[in-house]
Amino acid sequence: MSRLIVISNRVSAPKARSAGGAQGGLSVALAAALREYRGLWFGWSGNKTDEFTGHIDLQRHEGVTTATIDLEEQDVDEYYNGYANRTLWPLFHYRIDLAEYDRSFGSGYERVNERFAETVTPLIEPDDLIWVHDYHLIPLGMQLRERGLKNRIGFFLHIPWPPQRLLVSLPFHQRLVRSMLAYDLIGFQTEEWLDSFHHYIEREMGGTVDGDTVRVGNRTIKVAAFPIGVDAKEFGEAVRSPTAKQAHERLKRSVEDKHVIIGVDRLDYSKGLGERFLGYRRFLEEHDDCRGRVTLLQIAPPSRGEVHTYESIREHLDELSGRINGEFAEVDWVPIRYVNQGYPREELAGFYRASEIALITPLRDGMNLVAKEYVAAQDPEDPGVLILSRFAGAALQLKDALLVNPYSKDEISDAVAKALNMPKGERIRRWRAMMDSVEKEDVVWWRRNFVRALQGEEAPLGDEDKPAEAVG
Ligand code: G6P
Repeated sequence: MSRLIVISNRVSAPKARSAGGAQGGLSVALAAALREYRGLWFGWSGNKTDEFTGHIDLQRHEGVTTATIDLEEQDVDEYYNGYANRTLWPLFHYRIDLAEYDRSFGSGYERVNERFAETVTPLIEPDDLIWVHDYHLIPLGMQLRERGLKNRIGFFLHIPWPPQRLLVSLPFHQRLVRSMLAYDLIGFQTEEWLDSFHHYIEREMGGTVDGDTVRVGNRTIKVAAFPIGVDAKEFGEAVRSPTAKQAHERLKRSVEDKHVIIGVDRLDYSKGLGERFLGYRRFLEEHDDCRGRVTLLQIAPPSRGEVHTYESIREHLDELSGRINGEFAEVDWVPIRYVNQGYPREELAGFYRASEIALITPLRDGMNLVAKEYVAAQDPEDPGVLILSRFAGAALQLKDALLVNPYSKDEISDAVAKALNMPKGERIRRWRAMMDSVEKEDVVWWRRNFVRALQGEEAPLGDEDKPAEAVG
């Protein structure tokens, strides 16, 4: 059996702290794949060094080998803080107004991708499968080919792919997309991002699309949607753990008889936190009988603090949450508990279970695993209600959530009111339908489908192929 080499910007060893729910789940899933395929996980250590040496720090954690490198300060500025998070991230989340185009970012991005390629190539054996992740490393496949690698190489984009009309605002957009043709397989989260990619290929590159085959010139590659899932079984266990039970009790005790509405997001402008606070404010305005009866718990660990757009969204949210609390609070009640720290998965599982409503309203999101984790954490006899942005990739699978336009304060307010009054029978019916999808299309299903497609096996994985332990 071939080995699997996973390459991503960040490498999280198993059992890492979750940065908002999602990353922990992905790390658990990839770690399981790496154990199965005896592979290794390569990426940036997160540390800086004075001069890039290409030294690889090899470690083994719970059966998973990680290989990490340090980057120079200039690399981190131009590649991670620059091209990845000031250019591609905003543009791919449809925020062309926030996207910054700077020559030095583009060259730093290519330089770091070359450094990744140069360093990882000697670790790769001829029949290894290579799986590259996310927008930090789009040109890596091409860089590996230039070093003579003939292996099967796949790429999975965790974030949205923007519409062609937005993408053309990126200088050298063709160069970036052309580099992707070096992969054998490209995966997107949903059909929507896949459609946008197809449009681009047809309109900008003169390519053709036939089912999951894309042809440009003499290159033919496979491109498909692989919606990522959560490890529903593992999350179900997390929610039954003593830590989750303590977290559940701690939250319940602190709110007494109030209803909890929970949001858990990395502190990012794509998550629609300001719009969410305003929607909740509209709810309090319109339903004065509910004041003092609900609490919005928004957990938002800060991220990418060296990027100025993240500093300003943080300031904006500090100000907005303070203003709303000042406006509505009573001596014994504050409407919003705004918490700028992350929690381990088991505690989050307990918080989800203790919350009657999850309010997850990103303005644009590749998938959103917090929505799926919330579903996985519910009590089947008395589940909570998921309010979900129609612009999250997860909305295509979780059709029984209350889907809202995250830009509309009125829709958010109406959905909160509807969720609070929803009869138990309807809550159970909606939750069951969502849970079926969360259990069936879980993270094991996702990575097996991707790896199979990368190996050139056509048929998507059916239930009967799933290992028994993966069926929740
Ligand atoms: C998103 C991206 C990931 C990234 C994560 C955390 O989920 O798709 O690639 O790792 O955010 O962001 P950070 O910049 O802290 O790695």
